[in-house]
Amino acid sequence: MVRFDILTLFTGMFSSPLNESLLKRAQAKELIDVKVHNIRDFSSDKHHTADDYPYGGGMGMVMKPELIIRGIEKLRSPVDGLKVILMTPQGRKFDQGSALMLSRVSHLIIVCGRYEGTDERVREYVDEEISIGDYVLSGGELAAMVLLDAVTRLIPGVLGNPGSADDESFSTGLLEYPQYTRPREYRGLEVPEVLLSGHHEKINRWRRTQSLKRTLERRPDLLEKVELSDQDQSLLSEIRKELNEGK
Ligand code: 6GU
Repeated sequence: MVRFDILTLFTGMFSSPLNESLLKRAQAKELIDVKVHNIRDFSSDKHHTADDYPYGGGMGMVMKPELIIRGIEKLRSPVDGLKVILMTPQGRKFDQGSALMLSRVSHLIIVCGRYEGTDERVREYVDEEISIGDYVLSGGELAAMVLLDAVTRLIPGVLGNPGSADDESFSTGLLEYPQYTRPREYRGLEVPEVLLSGHHEKINRWRRTQSLKRTLERRPDLLEKVELSDQDQSLLSEIRKELNEGK
């Protein structure tokens, strides 16, 4: 069971994502336990003020440190395997590797930054700052949900088929091969013959070739990081040759 405690000013944003599909099932199976806490509930003043003007002046408001830090301290588990994460566009960029690492942690406290910023002193209480990409969201909530989904599906037992996370785009370091289901022909568009052949070795080779080709065409940056077998290398040079001849 992986425990997630989410600290946010907008608890309602989490309702539907937690009550549908994968996240709902993972909770029902008691593989994850998600609690969403309102940062305002950790305030001591009667107005539950969560933000204030920035020292030094300037635009916008800054999230106050005390409430968030009090929240983290209250939720902290005494055991090992706790990670406190701050969702911020200034964080390290999230990827499949980080998702896999986090799926092996037993307790995550996720702080959703809001407004124009969070008081710098909160960072002293945080293990890791995470961004989900190079664009600006109005708060860390949607980013936290992205992280929650990507991490949860890697927790053993969450996906029906234990192998289903292994083959996908990014897990292998390559993009996924094209998938088809019935009908065999739709408006003149046909399923590649090899997939109907029942010849598993040929099918596997076709899929690997397609993965390599897609990655080369759409995300050549991924090919630099991935370890390729000798067979992959020779498939790749054939693909490159074909692509050059096609020009
Ligand atoms: Cl984690 N937060 C915000 N506000 N914007 C983001 C982000 C996080 N990741 C990408 N953009």
